Parts: sequence; C-alpha cells; structure tokens
Amino acid sequence: MTVMAYDLTGRTACVTGAASGIGRACAVLLAEAGATVHCADHDAPGLHETAALIKAAGGTAHTHTLDVTDRAQVTEAVATAAAATGTLDILAAIAGIMHDSPVLETRDEDLDRVLAVNFKGVLYACQEAARTMIAAGTRGSIVTMASGAVDTGGPGLLCYGAAKAAVVQLTKTLATEVGRHGIRVNAVAPGWIRTPMTTRHDESAQAHTESLMVRLAPLGRVGEPLDVAHAVLHLASDAAAFTTGQILRPNGGVAMPW
Ligand code: NAI
Repeated sequence: MTVMAYDLTGRTACVTGAASGIGRACAVLLAEAGATVHCADHDAPGLHETAALIKAAGGTAHTHTLDVTDRAQVTEAVATAAAATGTLDILAAIAGIMHDSPVLETRDEDLDRVLAVNFKGVLYACQEAARTMIAAGTRGSIVTMASGAVDTGGPGLLCYGAAKAAVVQLTKTLATEVGRHGIRVNAVAPGWIRTPMTTRHDESAQAHTESLMVRLAPLGRVGEPLDVAHAVLHLASDAAAFTTGQILRPNGGVAMPW
C-alpha cells in the first residue's frame, strides 16, 4: 500500500454540509486529493467560501444550494454532479443539525426536524448516490456521518442520538445490499469536534465543555474538522478497498467500543 491509494484524481465526489465545519474540511481535503468536488448545503454564502478555498488551492469545485430534506433537490444535485463523467465515485453525507432537549420535554416537531435533516437527508443522498453508482457500474464509496452520541448517550441527546443511530443502521444495511456491486458504505462517528455546531456564544460554557472533553479523551484534546476529514478521505479512497459496513471513530479515544 502506498500513498497512491489516497489519490482521487479523476474521481467525482459530492459532499453535503460542505458550507461549514467538518463538511467544509472534507470537501477541501477530497479536492486536495484530486477529486472534483460537488459541494451541497443550504447555506449559499458558506458554500461559495468553501468553493473559493478549493479553487484557491488549485482544485475543482461546484456548488449546489439545496435542502437535504427535499428529496427532489438531492436527486437533482446528484444527477448534476454525475453529468460530466456519467457517475459519482464518492458521497460524503455530512449535513446535520444539533438538537438538545430532555426526553420529557421533547416535542414531535423537534423529533421530526432532527430526523428529517440528520437521517432522511442522509438516506436520500445515499439512495441517489447508490443508484447512480450501480447504473454506471462504479465501485464507489459512500461515507455517512454518525456521532459519538451513538456510543455514549447523554442527557438531551434523544433526537440527535436517535437520528445518528438510524444513520448507523442505514450504513450497515446499505453496505450489505450494495457490496455485490463493489460499492462500500461506511460511517464516521466523531467525538467532540470544534466547529460552528459546538462553538457556543458563551465563552465560559464553551471552555467548561472543552476542558471536560479534554479530560475524557486519552489523547488530551478536542478534535478539529481536519481530524474527521482524514477519516473520511481514508474511507473514500482505495486505501479502504476492503472496508465496508464499519464505523470509524475519530474521537481521541473517548469511547472504545468493541
Ligand atoms: P456545522 O454546523 O459546522 O455544519 C453543518 C452543515 O450542515 C452546515 O453547513 C449547515 O448549513 C448544513 N445543513 C444543516 N441543515 C441542512 C439542510 N437541511 N440542508 C442542507 N444543509 C444543511 O456542524 P459540524 O460540526 O461540521 O457537523 C457536521 C456533521 O458532523 C453533522 O452531521 C454533525 O451531526 C456531525 N458531528 C459533529 C460533531 C462535532 O462535535 N462537531 C461530532 C459528531 C458528529
């Protein structure tokens, strides 16, 4: 195995949630590895910043302003991404939202919204990507974004954790169904990563949470978006050619499930 296994030259990737945080880091890294990256998000200014970063580094980026909860918009974006080469090689389904509410205070609309973005949004992208890959005979890679919440639980994590657990089940189920086409499907379950999602406006609350995470993590620090992007690159690339249905955990060692 050489570093050539990480070379994505000539491949087409679609990254949802690409306007910010982990999704942006993934889009930039996949482009640095040589892929043409289709960046999708509902935050148009953020998307254009990501595309500008990629282009400034000599990469190729396209933007798709969409809501991942709208199946038709996701279908159109994947079709557009696949139009140039006739296929999609990589999907990184990263868009997500955080929601924090105790079980006894959780309302139907909270659950519906979080499941719509964090689960159905991933499902729609996975379905379209897999259909496109199968039709073109492409031995592609699909990477979904779960969370350490599925390992540890925690107060307030009902909606978010349920959606991420559903993403894990989707990942394993799809991996068993499309493996015979040579398509791999894996999840990444990060620990605490410093992004706009986890950066609080209250600096002292932020410092308190981060110091707790640092104490819990054997590696003694919180994560950065690039830590997760490296995991996504690995799973997207030929370096992970014999890996499917797995959960990769860039979490500093906070959780060590079997
Ligand atoms: P972020 O808030 O920086 O990025 C999330 C992106 O998703 C944003 O660009 C946002 O505009 C986009 N998005 C949200 N709803 C959308 C919708 N309906 N349609 C299209 N785009 C939409 O958050 P971060 O931290 O980068 O999170 C990325 C993923 O990683 C999420 O799925 C999150 O659950 C997951 N994650 C994050 C962790 C962390 O500690 N930051 C830990 C574990 C998982």
